[in-house]
Formats: sequence, structure tokens, C-alpha cells
Amino acid sequence: MNDADCVEFLQWALPRLRMRWAGFRKVRGQVCKRISRRLKELGLGDINAYRSYLDKHSEEWEILDGLCRITISRFHRDRKVFECLRDSVLPDLAQATQAAGGTLRIWSAGCASGEEPYTISILWHTFLEKRFPDITVEIIATDTEPKLLERAKTGHYNTSSLKELAPDIMEAAFETSEMGLCLNTEYRHGVVFLLSDIRSEMPQGPFDLILCRNLVFTYFDAEMQRDLLEGMIDRLITGGALVIGGHESLPLGSWPLQHPHPGLPILRRV
Ligand SMILES: C[S@@+](CC[C@H](N)C(=O)[O-])C[C@H]1O[C@@H](n2cnc3c(N)ncnc32)[C@H](O)[C@@H]1O
Repeated sequence: MNDADCVEFLQWALPRLRMRWAGFRKVRGQVCKRISRRLKELGLGDINAYRSYLDKHSEEWEILDGLCRITISRFHRDRKVFECLRDSVLPDLAQATQAAGGTLRIWSAGCASGEEPYTISILWHTFLEKRFPDITVEIIATDTEPKLLERAKTGHYNTSSLKELAPDIMEAAFETSEMGLCLNTEYRHGVVFLLSDIRSEMPQGPFDLILCRNLVFTYFDAEMQRDLLEGMIDRLITGGALVIGGHESLPLGSWPLQHPHPGLPILRRV
């Protein structure tokens, strides 16, 4: 299958999956490769035959949906966002939690192999735990790919996924093992991984912080984005923060969210 055929196919199929072509434009290569592999598995000669196959086998849409997942992630991805979380947002949320004497609850939606929730855990243990000793931090991390979650639970990574972490933090948080670099247990403690498709279920709130980066607001269509954003806002406490991806924007609408950190994709519920 050549690129033009794949693009034409994706432009036809993605809206039927309630996804948007624009989100896939730059990363289509890996999706096209997976679709080519699927054609071979099914013994189909070309992409038109796959279209006909989809017409006749409605269950194939679910398989195609799975082929359209982009799973790239890194620790400390978008450095400035995590610096702002470390220096401003988390201390602010922790202060409010401390006053109420409770648990700081965080949800990482589309957590891949744990890079994002573990980054939060590392920041908390390294910079904030001593300032807020009475607070318990609970991080719920959800994804729809079982293999990624299994990897997340082992805490093993290769160096390329750690390249944005400061060397001293990396040294303190990881140990070298036969399987690569392994995140020390203390940083894994308190992070719970759950298999869950955000389109059909969301973990029970309320949350102080929700990270939904490089998933909903990149790959899903506008109506789906609005539905899911409503669900996230419902689960955020007043003053809670929602972090989206650096290249993402919210769907049009009047949302009870403020944008107090200019230039950063961090919103606060009013
Ligand atoms: C591009 S990665 C982003 C990872 C991380 N949030 C980041 O920004 O580095 C998107 C993740 O969302 C997951 N995902 C895709 N569709 C999903 C869905 N419907 N529900 C939950 N997770 C999903 C993918 O498996 C993948 O791990």
C-alpha cells in the first residue's frame, strides 16, 4: 500500500471511528504499516479490498481502532509543563489538600508505559514530599493498551525515553538492570495502572490534577472531545488543574476553565 492510498483510506475511515485525520497526518507512517500488516494477515490484495472487508465485517472496525493508537511517550515530555507543575501547580494543590488534611488525587489519562504518571511521582518525591509530609498522593494511570500497562508495572525503560530527565534525577530514581533502567520502588509506590478506554469509562473523581496529553485533543473528533472534556471537568475539584498536550487546544465551547499560565497548556477549573 503506498502513502497516497493509505492517506485516502484514513481520511475515509477515521471519521467513522470518531477520530480526526489532522491528528494522524504526521504520525500516519506507523498506522499505515500496521494496516499493511493487517491486509497480509487477512490475505487481502489491496486497501480497497480492506474497505469492502470492513463493510461486510463490522467487528473489524474495533481491530482497526486498535491499529490507530499512537503510543509515543517520554519522561518529562514538555519540560516547561513539568517545571510549572513542580514549582507552582502541585505546591498550590498540595497546600489546599494539606489544609483539608487529605489525599492529593491525580489521573493520567492515556498514560502509555507509565512515563507521564511516573514523572509526576518522581517530581513529588524529589521536590515536594518533604514540604507536605502529611499528604498522601494517589496517581491513577489509565490506558487502553494492555502491553503498555504491563511494561509500566515492571518500571523498565530504555535510555531514549529518559533523555529529557535531568541526569541527577535520573541517577537517583533509576537503577541499571539486565532489562534496562529500572525505576526504584519508592517512585512506583502510589501509582495504580488500570486498563480502561476513556471513551467508555473514566475513573471515579474527584481529582486535583488530570493529565490528558496527546490523546483526546489530538486524535478524537470535536464532538468526542467535547463529551470527554465534560467528563474530565466533572471529575476536577474547583481550583483543580487539567493539563493537555503542548500542541493541543480545547474544542470550541464555554468551559469553566481558566488559563493562568500563559504559553503553557495548563488550565484551572473555576
Ligand atoms: C501519544 S500517547 C501519549 C502518552 C502520554 N500521555 C504523553 O503525552 O506522553 C497516547 C496514549 O493514549 C492511549 N490511548 C489511545 N486511545 C485510548 C483510549 N481510547 N483510552 C485510553 N487510552 C488510549 C495509547 O495507548 C497511548 O498510550
